[in-house]
Amino acid sequence: MFSAAVIASLLSLSSLSTASPLERRQTGPINASSLEGKFLYGYQGFFRRPGQGNDHWAINYGEIPGPSTPGDVQFDTFPAVEQYPDECLFETRFILPDGSKAKLFESNCTGIIDTHFRWMSENSIDGILVQRFYNDINDQSFIQLLSQVRTAAEKWGRGFAVEYDLSQVSSDNFGSVISDLQNDYANVVAPLISSPAYLHHEGRPVIELWGFGIASNLRSPEAQQIFSALRNANPNPYVILGVQQAWRADKNDRPDFYNIYTQGDVIQPWTVGSYSNDSYDGFYSGTTVPDKQLTDSINLKYSPVIWPGGSDRNRQGGASSGVPFGNRWNGTFYTDQLDKAVIDLKPFFVFSAMFDEYPESTQAIATLDFSEVPPDPNPGFIGLDNGFDHNYYLQLAGRYAVRYHELF
Ligand SMILES: *[C@@H]1O[C@H](CO)[C@@H](O)[C@H](O)[C@H]1NC(C)=O
Ligand SMILES: *[C@@H]1O[C@H](CO)[C@@H](O)[C@H](O)[C@H]1NC(C)=O
Ligand SMILES: *[C@@H]1O[C@H](CO)[C@@H](O)[C@H](O)[C@H]1NC(C)=O
Ligand SMILES: *[C@@H]1O[C@H](CO)[C@@H](O)[C@H](O)[C@H]1NC(C)=O
Repeated sequence: MFSAAVIASLLSLSSLSTASPLERRQTGPINASSLEGKFLYGYQGFFRRPGQGNDHWAINYGEIPGPSTPGDVQFDTFPAVEQYPDECLFETRFILPDGSKAKLFESNCTGIIDTHFRWMSENSIDGILVQRFYNDINDQSFIQLLSQVRTAAEKWGRGFAVEYDLSQVSSDNFGSVISDLQNDYANVVAPLISSPAYLHHEGRPVIELWGFGIASNLRSPEAQQIFSALRNANPNPYVILGVQQAWRADKNDRPDFYNIYTQGDVIQPWTVGSYSNDSYDGFYSGTTVPDKQLTDSINLKYSPVIWPGGSDRNRQGGASSGVPFGNRWNGTFYTDQLDKAVIDLKPFFVFSAMFDEYPESTQAIATLDFSEVPPDPNPGFIGLDNGFDHNYYLQLAGRYAVRYHELF
């Protein structure tokens, strides 16, 4: 999902600003019956312990990540785990500067999810869209995770909704995709929507369908079938469509896809990797603003995707791949997007990628700084700028969320 070219141009930037830890702004329970004015994160929840299927930390799922398995590691930034209960953590072979073994976490541990929702609450973040990958649709740990999310969202007064990620769906091997999604919506999602934390809009439960025009093997006839099956499902959902970044061009280039885009309720173009710090201002005026204008004119809602930074060298093969590491420029890259796509634009709702996606280093939460990451020999982890609070990027978003909420 992340372009190496953008990382390269991010790296070419020079350093500028400074930042100090930010104060927290806790807010009361959100009103989950409206999507308008919500500041949401995408949520993967896909980390597992080694040996428990695709753990998303390492390629060789059975192995505990460490320096003896270079090339195996699937993340460039290192999680800070000090606020998690120890029962949710496992030791790696990486050694921290203080000599202790670095630990990683499993997402489907109740203490992890509870901590995440506490952080949202402490930082005025309204909630999450939980990714539901098609290939994992029958994996019980992801079904269980949804009920853990429900419990934590209710406890902390946040919101959540399900986002079907269709990137793994192929028109060539379409099989039971439609009935799988229909059954999942009826048997897994529908029971969740009675929760006071499940996001609704205009009386309908919110879902997102992600991948139209993005999933390389999903052609328009099958994409239309998926859309229609869920659009007409009972209870009738309010549908956010995650579409390709250059979706407007499809009006001419791929009218069959454009026709699907216009049948949803909200258009959300995927922009992770589409710009760097130095090209963002041009992207905002030349793409984001016209995107919103078009959705306004065809009576759809618009939701921008913003991201604090990204890097996925290890995921793309490590140092020998030639892919450089990315940097966040002390937060200026995120701040620029927050100023423009959140405050200036005042969109229907905001989607930030992502809450917990360490594999592409777009995560907003709990990250070690440069002085804290396991030193060499290692895959060359990057950190937050030294001295930054581990949750700095979530706190930064929270500051803007408070201002964004005041616009409504
Ligand atoms: C971040 O700010 C610090 C000073 O606070 C500076 O030393 C560092 O180079 C900056 N980093 C980037 C990537 O801008
Ligand atoms: C990033 O872009 C913003 C806006 O153009 C600029 O103010 C800031 O200095 C840039 N940051 C870096 C590190 O170049
Ligand atoms: C929650 O939002 C809905 C929809 O905008 C509104 O009708 C309702 O009054 C709100 N509830 C509260 C408690 O503010
Ligand atoms: C997490 O999911 C895995 C299966 O992927 C399961 O083996 C493990 O017990 C689960 N952990 C918890 C804490 O439920």
